[in-house]
Amino acid sequence: MSTPLVERRVAFIGAGRLAQTLARAWSASGIGVVAVASRNGMDAEQLAAQLPGCIALPAAEAVAAADLVFLSVPDDAIATLAAALPWTARQWVVHCSGATELTALAAAAAAGAQIGGFHPLQIFSDPARAQHLLAGSTVVIEVAAQAQGLSDELHAMARRLQMKPLQLPPGSRAAYHGAASFAASFLLSMLDEAVQVWAQIGLPPEAALQALLPLARGTLDAAATRGLAGALAGPISRGDAGVVAAHLQAFDALGAAHGQFYRELARRQLSLARASARLDEATLQGLGRLLKAAP
Ligand SMILES: NC(=O)c1ccc[n+]([C@@H]2O[C@H](COP(=O)([O-])OP(=O)(O)OC[C@H]3O[C@@H](n4cnc5c(N)ncnc54)[C@H](OP(=O)(O)O)[C@@H]3O)[C@@H](O)[C@H]2O)c1
Repeated sequence: MSTPLVERRVAFIGAGRLAQTLARAWSASGIGVVAVASRNGMDAEQLAAQLPGCIALPAAEAVAAADLVFLSVPDDAIATLAAALPWTARQWVVHCSGATELTALAAAAAAGAQIGGFHPLQIFSDPARAQHLLAGSTVVIEVAAQAQGLSDELHAMARRLQMKPLQLPPGSRAAYHGAASFAASFLLSMLDEAVQVWAQIGLPPEAALQALLPLARGTLDAAATRGLAGALAGPISRGDAGVVAAHLQAFDALGAAHGQFYRELARRQLSLARASARLDEATLQGLGRLLKAAP
């Protein structure tokens, strides 16, 4: 297919957080999003009403109306949906999952369609505010063999949104996606641990989060400018074993799970401290022994 992007007919099956973000952004950039579908229909109708020339349709009709179809449904629904929809050889079929291999689209490939993945490495918790997150974000683009046309198209669509394409080695999606969680939802787990510990010493959770967020942002800003080892601050970076011992005592007193969580993260931080080359080997080894010692 060599149709210019503006003449492309795009459909989304699934009208949730990712579809709302991408469909609005592409539509605003002049790409024709012509149909959206969802099982209850309400999300699809609301989304279609915001996009010029777009209508909410049952999934099979949305597929028939489009050249390029995004299966923007929960990951576990992709393979079943791909097997249930009526594909033709003229179509391009793409999922947006990070962890799911392209084999989930095997049924579409068997019908002759070109298949691929378009995974924005970003979090779309609030679609109304998520569009501004797209520019500068990375997107993993993968296509099956013999799908160069689809690859070119997805790269062009990424450029429209000023996203940065990334290619993965085949078969590595689960490790890629699991690791990315550490920069996304696991950051929330980290903040949750801080909020929980502060709650145990009497600080209200809402005030705690507001106090912790500027600290988290400052840490991320430092990582962006100085790299991970260069951004390291705090007692481990200084070799302050007395403070680390006090932390361990306080966390162990709150419960074994708190102590274990602190120890695991602190041990990981020792390798960053080593990489930063600020501490001598004896200090690093002393900290290592402290963190290995039983509570
Ligand atoms: N949100 C993010 O931050 C993000 C980021 C990157 C990638 N992704 C990927 O994007 C995909 C969609 O995620 P999401 O966060 O947008 O999910 P979501 O907000 O839960 O939305 C899922 C949508 O799919 C519809 N749906 C569910 N099962 C369906 C089926 N069998 N047939 C048709 N529609 C169905 C749902 O509506 P009904 O229940 O009414 O059908 C809903 O509109 C996933 O593969 C996810 O990994 C998400």
